[in-house]
Amino acid sequence: MRAAAFLLVLGLGAGALGCRSCKSPPPEPPPDAGPPPSSVEEARRRLTDEALPFLQRAAAPTGRVHDFELVAKPTTLTLLDGRALDVWAYNDQVPGPTLRVRVGDTIRARLKNELPQPTTIHWHGVRLPNAMDGVPWVTQPPVLPGESFLYEFIARDPGTFWFHPHVRGSEQVERGLYGVLIVEPEEPLSGRDLVWVLDDWLLDERGQIDPRFVTPRDLAHDGRWGDVVTVNGQHRPELAVTAGERTRVRIVNVANGRVFALDLSGLDARVVAFDGLSVGRTIDAGTVELAPGNRVDLALLPAAARAGQTLSLVDRFTRREHVVATVRVERGAADAGGPKGAPAPLGFVPSWKEASELPADQAFALNARRGGPFGVEWMINERVMRHDDDDHAKPEHHEVPYRFERNRFVKLRFANDSPRLHPMHLHGVFFKVLARDGVPVDEGHWRDTVLVRPRETIDVGTVPTEPGTWMLHCHILEHADSGMMTLFSVPE
Ligand code: C2O
Ligand code: CU
Repeated sequence: MRAAAFLLVLGLGAGALGCRSCKSPPPEPPPDAGPPPSSVEEARRRLTDEALPFLQRAAAPTGRVHDFELVAKPTTLTLLDGRALDVWAYNDQVPGPTLRVRVGDTIRARLKNELPQPTTIHWHGVRLPNAMDGVPWVTQPPVLPGESFLYEFIARDPGTFWFHPHVRGSEQVERGLYGVLIVEPEEPLSGRDLVWVLDDWLLDERGQIDPRFVTPRDLAHDGRWGDVVTVNGQHRPELAVTAGERTRVRIVNVANGRVFALDLSGLDARVVAFDGLSVGRTIDAGTVELAPGNRVDLALLPAAARAGQTLSLVDRFTRREHVVATVRVERGAADAGGPKGAPAPLGFVPSWKEASELPADQAFALNARRGGPFGVEWMINERVMRHDDDDHAKPEHHEVPYRFERNRFVKLRFANDSPRLHPMHLHGVFFKVLARDGVPVDEGHWRDTVLVRPRETIDVGTVPTEPGTWMLHCHILEHADSGMMTLFSVPE
């Protein structure tokens, strides 16, 4: 009975994946007829040329080496509302340690696995050599319990990134395995620098992390949504900023499935970076939507007049809005002197205007079917991919269904044929949203993850620059673990 109801929610009940609750379906994107091949080729070259110098930039190595040790193991911490919570953590912390380096520095991070499962570390959003990407059986064998693995790469792009396992993310990330990587630019940033990590927790009757992962319910919905929302592991904390002090706040959504739409209108904030990279133009932070995996960097300059005020940080993504945290504006010594430090400089983002006329080079249909080890399989173009690890054996050689040329503009289309959310994430590249349901958009920033809403079609453009075999997957970790992952290769 229950399972049948879940399948109905998914839209699988009557055989068709119809969306009963939707209003009229969005208009089909215009057909990709049009320009003759030669002018398409020329347009592609212009689009490539516009972005390639930026994307090919490589930081001059500083020679500085940071040796980090990340021990993944079960532990008990005081979290959420102050209870003792059994978690899996890096270095006995949730969130894990914030790794801070400067662009051009070498990161040498030794992962020690003291978990009861194999694991890896994926460096979300980071452009690095393919072998350091942390994808089991694709870029490395999984790190077995008791073993360790050394990740080593040069921090190439300044910005806010994060790291997490890429084995059974639905369980390992949910249990607390994640941390933030901050790559500072050459010119040190002035002012204060804060990190707010957003997560949610699904607890059982004992008040502990519910040990049922990838349930039919998770798969029939937008993954696992917990009812306890936290910032830096604390439920509804009071966060402090200082009036008159320029502050950078790096917000990271590490939840398995929950999307946040944070109302920041009371904070005198500007968006200065999204998914790591600096924005191309000033963007006022009204309501900022963060799907799983997304980051936003805010520049805050709380007005002196706000000193003493307490503001609420409200999430309005669902119909039931809720307070995520309160923000207290403290009176600062800087009050009299005005803002300290320069505002964050803007980054480069191509306009890519003419990309909307080009045909999509590759479309990805997002959908589900019944079957597989969890009862439902989420798919990309009717295919599933899983990091099967139960017997610690290498799965049948993973297919690499897609191939994109290196250093050449490519237009990708995500077509959500389902009534659920899919935040689609690509490894190894930054991309820009070109159109939603066929309507051109210019977001003014890069991304590595974009939320595709029910029945929505989103076009993105990118220029892959890093050779290797990279992942493309849904960042709702239950959808991913049930099959919604695939691979693309970028030949040398
Ligand atoms: Cu944060 Cu493959 O993902
Ligand atoms: Cu999904």
